[in-house]
Amino acid sequence: MAQRRLKILVLGSKGRLGSSLLGSLASKHDVIGFGRHDLNLLWDPERIKTSLREVSFDVLINAAGDTSVDHSETREKDSLAANAVGPEAAAQVCQDRGAKMYQISTDYVFGGDGDAPLSEEDPTHPVQVYGTTKLTGERKVLAACPSALVTRISWLFGGNKNSFPDRILEMALSDTAVSAVADKWSSPTSVEDLVGWLTFLMEERPLAEGHIHLCNSGSCCWQEYGQYALDVAAELGLPLKSLNVEPIGLKDVTNFVAARPRYTVLNTHRFQETTGIIPRHWRQALRDYILTRYSKEG
Ligand SMILES: NC(=O)c1ccc[n+]([C@@H]2O[C@H](COP(=O)([O-])OP(=O)(O)OC[C@H]3O[C@@H](n4cnc5c(N)ncnc54)[C@H](OP(=O)(O)O)[C@@H]3O)[C@@H](O)[C@H]2O)c1
Repeated sequence: MAQRRLKILVLGSKGRLGSSLLGSLASKHDVIGFGRHDLNLLWDPERIKTSLREVSFDVLINAAGDTSVDHSETREKDSLAANAVGPEAAAQVCQDRGAKMYQISTDYVFGGDGDAPLSEEDPTHPVQVYGTTKLTGERKVLAACPSALVTRISWLFGGNKNSFPDRILEMALSDTAVSAVADKWSSPTSVEDLVGWLTFLMEERPLAEGHIHLCNSGSCCWQEYGQYALDVAAELGLPLKSLNVEPIGLKDVTNFVAARPRYTVLNTHRFQETTGIIPRHWRQALRDYILTRYSKEG
């Protein structure tokens, strides 16, 4: 049976995830993208609701938010508005019109003290403002719109912005000394893969609600993540000045303002059971990204 054409509104359409969603969904669905100027999550909630009520949509994906972990520490009020109060207003509009809402959240809702992959039922305990406001957002969205799906994701790469592996490559191209934290673990996640999983959930599993964890398989620390990026870049023949990422400790990073959780690897069993999809390993996804983005032909 042909897939029903959905009317989808993406908030945060200029961001890494939002712009990738927009690009990918437009061929199959009627997609509208709202950037910060079209709808600012810092607006009064009534103004947010009025703006949303003027748009026709049956799915709303909120990929917008205050995503700067360090800046959030010193602007708690705005972070709460962007990550929780604004999304709550969007959720109320979705509830009123029977639209499906996807709220994008983060592995940083966890405290990071454990050493086993975290499921949707594991206790949350954010250790910085960013994670705290994102967790409040999860709760407010689900309270306002119980059919919403909150998707927690981790360590995105790809899309329209540079991320960790690109920064490591930039450093290795210009510097002989490259280092990264070796005592903090999570799962790198390809934006391209994430867009595919979200699309499948939207099209094929519209009744999935509550929380779901989405990330590539496997886990690593930043040092291993960066080292693999360099290994693939070396294979491609990029003129790297450094071939190694030296390990450092989280405590050695002096410019972090916010505390970082140590271990936030997400368990994706619920996603696998819901969809039958097994996310590919992060190494395979990262390899494809680097080969596509940095090959001479690319
Ligand atoms: N990137 C990661 O590694 C990661 C990891 C875990 C979870 N997440 C979550 O995934 C989602 C998408 O992340 P991303 O990497 O795509 O982030 P991003 O590139 O920073 O995009 C976020 C977007 O939100 C917009 N925005 C910020 N404040 C806003 C406001 N007050 N009103 C309206 N729009 C606002 C930004 O607009 P401007 O373009 O105008 O600044 C930006 O386009 C976020 O919810 C984030 O918390 C990301």
